[in-house]
Formats: sequence, structure tokens, C-alpha cells
Amino acid sequence: MNFEYIKVDRAYETNVALIELNRPKELNALNLQLMSELRNALIELDDDEEVRAIVLTGNERAFAAGADIKQMAGKSAIDMLEIDQFSTWDQIKKTKKPIIAAVSGFALGGGCELAMTCDMIVASETAKFGQPEIKIGVMPGAGGTQRLTKAIGKVRAMEMVLTGKFISAEEALDFGLINKVVPVEMCLEEAITLAKTIAFQSPIAVRLAKESVLKAFDSTLEQGLMFERKNFYMTFASEDQKEGMNAFIEKRKPDFKGK
Ligand code: CAA
Repeated sequence: MNFEYIKVDRAYETNVALIELNRPKELNALNLQLMSELRNALIELDDDEEVRAIVLTGNERAFAAGADIKQMAGKSAIDMLEIDQFSTWDQIKKTKKPIIAAVSGFALGGGCELAMTCDMIVASETAKFGQPEIKIGVMPGAGGTQRLTKAIGKVRAMEMVLTGKFISAEEALDFGLINKVVPVEMCLEEAITLAKTIAFQSPIAVRLAKESVLKAFDSTLEQGLMFERKNFYMTFASEDQKEGMNAFIEKRKPDFKGK
């Protein structure tokens, strides 16, 4: 995989892959090429049997400061429609393997939306989350009004989206937007540790469980419960279910093969 704006490292010994956003001078502003590279990397990693969890990170100053304003500034509505930049973002939510965002510095606009599209967020004490699009005459376009509202509730989302104010990592933790806050030098390591814990589990059970949690966002409770039940039964079609339950009974660690 050859990329200009991202770096990909497959740490096979731990079954965890790392994607680093790499446009540091522009605070990792998410231009079309970067997002297309990210989509392609996620498709490849999702297809790679050796990879069981993915960590997505930026650098200490910025996870990502949003969609690339310079690239969008002169565009018309029809240009935006034709470019359809958010269709590349759809791959992130389609990725079957868990993605953990490790966020330091700015996670703004599309950067905050990108982090929220991941399955979990580990943030450093320096992280700042925000949807400041209102200050440049637009509004969030990649899930900011929807995922943020579902994560932190209407009044807090309304304040962030309508005023553009940033929230700290501590506030984000308090609001339920992120999983944990750690010192900046621990952020990536902590996200990788979380990813390794997931990578140790049955990849089939992880995939079905992730699918089921996400189902809660767009189904009624009854539909979600039925979906969950079917996925639970489906895990019994795997060798990993036998391995996991037998290992428990035999008082040993399971060795999940993803079969
Ligand atoms: N797009 C393009 N370039 C960006 C950018 C963005 N979103 N964010 C930062 N940059 C560039 C700056 O233009 C600057 O480039 P130059 O050195 O060439 O001037 C460089 O990155 C460093 O940025 P600053 O000098 O501004 O750094 P700062 O520390 O003074 O401020 C900041 C940091 C508060 C994050 C500020 O850069 C900022 O407000 N950025 C824009 C944030 C924003 O509005 N994001 C939403 C974008 S729209 C969107 O994301 C739509 C959507 O829903 C998908």
C-alpha cells in the first residue's frame, strides 16, 4: 500500500493495524485524496485475515482539523454533489473490523466526525473536540449533527454545533463521547492495548457483536433485539464458540482462529 497522506503499519504479531493521518502542516485537514487513501486502506485491512483490529491516529497537534476548507471554498452546491466527498466516508462505517481512534490535539469538524465514526475513542489530555463549521458559514456534513447528538444528547450537541465551541477531553469523557483520557505520551499505546485485547477475541464474535451494537442506532428495540439474537445464534456456527466455551471449562486460555 503506497500512500501520500496516510501511513499504514500492519503489526502482524499482535493482529493490530495502525493507520496514521499524515498531513501535519495542514493539521491533517481531510482532503479528497487523504479520504480516498483512508478508504482504500480500510478496504485492504478489512480483507486481511491477519488484521483483527485497527487503530486510527493523527499526531500530537491534531487528529484532524476537519475537511479541507481550502479545497472546498470555491465549490458550488452542484460541484459538492458531483464530488460526493462523503461517499468515501461510507467505507469507514462499513468496515467490519473494530476501529479505535487515538486522538490528540484538534478533532474538529470532519475530524470530530471521523473519530465518532470509529467504534471507540481514546483521547489524550490535549484533545479538543468541536464542530466549528458554523463559524465558516456551513454546518457539519459527515454525521456531526447525528452521531454527536446520539452520543452526548440534544442540548450539548446543539450548543457545540450552533456556537462552534470546543470541548476538552475531560468534558468529552464526562459527556460519554469518548472511552478514556490519558496523558499525551500514552494515547497511542493505550489505543493499541485496547485493540490488542479485542484482537485476542474471536474475530467472528467481534464482527457480529460490532454489527449488533451499531444496529442499536437505527432500529427499534424489538428489531435490535431480534438482530442481536440471530447474531448470538450465529456465533454457535463457529469453531471459536466451541474453543471459547471448552477453554473456559478446561480452565485454559482460548486460542481463537476466526473459524
Ligand atoms: N482545512 C484546510 N486547512 C486547514 C484546516 C482545514 N480544516 N485547518 C487548519 N488548516 C491549515 C491552516 O490553514 C494553516 O495552513 P497555513 O500554514 O498554510 O496557513 C495550518 O493548517 C495550521 O493552522 P493554523 O495556522 O490555523 O493553526 P492554529 O493553531 O492557529 O489554529 C485551528 C488551529 C483552531 C484548528 C484552526 O486551524 C482552525 O480553526 N481550523 C479550521 C477548523 C474548522 O473549521 N474545521 C471544520 C472544517 S469544515 C468540515 O469539516 C465540514 C464537515 O462536516 C466534513
